[in-house]
Amino acid sequence: MKKVVIAGGGVLGSQIAFQAAYCGFDVTIWLRSQGSIGRTQPKIDGLRNSYIDAIKLMDSPQGASNWCRGIADTGNFDPKKCLEQVEKAYSGIKLELDMAKAAADADIIIESVAENVKDKVAFYEALAPLMPAKTILCTNSSTLLPSTFAKYTGRPDKYLSMHFANSIWKNNTAEVMAQGQTSREAFDAVVAFANDIRMVALPVNKEKNGYLLNSMLVPFLLSGLDLYVNGVSDPASIDKAWKFGTGAPRGPFEIFDVVGINTARNIVLQYQKVPGLFSPLLKKMLMPYNFKGMLSVLQKKIDEGKLGRSSGEGFYKYSK
Ligand SMILES: NC(=O)c1ccc[n+]([C@@H]2O[C@H](COP(=O)([O-])OP(=O)(O)OC[C@H]3O[C@@H](n4cnc5c(N)ncnc54)[C@H](O)[C@@H]3O)[C@@H](O)[C@H]2O)c1
Repeated sequence: MKKVVIAGGGVLGSQIAFQAAYCGFDVTIWLRSQGSIGRTQPKIDGLRNSYIDAIKLMDSPQGASNWCRGIADTGNFDPKKCLEQVEKAYSGIKLELDMAKAAADADIIIESVAENVKDKVAFYEALAPLMPAKTILCTNSSTLLPSTFAKYTGRPDKYLSMHFANSIWKNNTAEVMAQGQTSREAFDAVVAFANDIRMVALPVNKEKNGYLLNSMLVPFLLSGLDLYVNGVSDPASIDKAWKFGTGAPRGPFEIFDVVGINTARNIVLQYQKVPGLFSPLLKKMLMPYNFKGMLSVLQKKIDEGKLGRSSGEGFYKYSK
């Protein structure tokens, strides 16, 4: 693969573009309007600074505890070379409004437009006739399944999901998920590409809402919250039960404080929105959960401005 096209220059689109360019690929971001260019360029500028700051931190005495696996391995870290790669990436990324020009000769196109079925279908229908036969097409959708869109792509055998985590230079996973018609060749090519851009490729061999991480994380978080809202125990004790019992670094309430209470509320709502997130058995087990109680506890925190670590208080208090 040489030419990489990212459709959409939002939070994740700009990160995927920067990471691929950092790893030496020829990267174009397709954007739908001049206004999108005005919103995307500052994100690219910000990413340049984030990479530079991360490299400086990795090169400091605190480096080991702040390592960014998407930037370099611990064994052969050369900060000068990494900084050069950042500058090359920064000056190399192209922003393109013409979809035909962007798609021409693309080896891989990663769709990262808004999480909305109608918008994604319209995008695929417009793109399908413009792609060369070789192009592999991926979606970065967090909650929508690729089988929903395969028929609009004109190449269901070369269409699949590649799902990134936010801050990909640090959280460098790529969950690669096939839909029913994805060919083995396309799947393997995307796994190889993910590794080439310094992601840890995690194969998901059949469709599953929530991929691997959220399929495990969401039930875990909801289980902790349910214990609390039903008065079974308090957040600190629930967190300790999990951490001391398993050796995990954080319990559910510490995680809620890191991701933010608004996101916690969205996770609870998502249970109702994305029923396929849980297996039928797990769903049966979660059904008696007190979702109403969870939402009211979280809403109270939001109303009080206790939004998690970022605001200084969530389930715990933090010194600024
Ligand atoms: N934000 C995250 O943490 C995260 C993590 C993993 C995956 N994702 C997924 O990535 C995708 C994009 O999310 P994001 O957070 O970057 O969103 P965002 O809102 O930051 O960016 C969306 C981008 O899509 C463009 N866009 C919106 N509507 C469009 C349309 N109709 N046609 C063409 N372009 C359009 C916007 O101009 C923008 O560039 C979603 O599918 C989301 O589920 C997001």
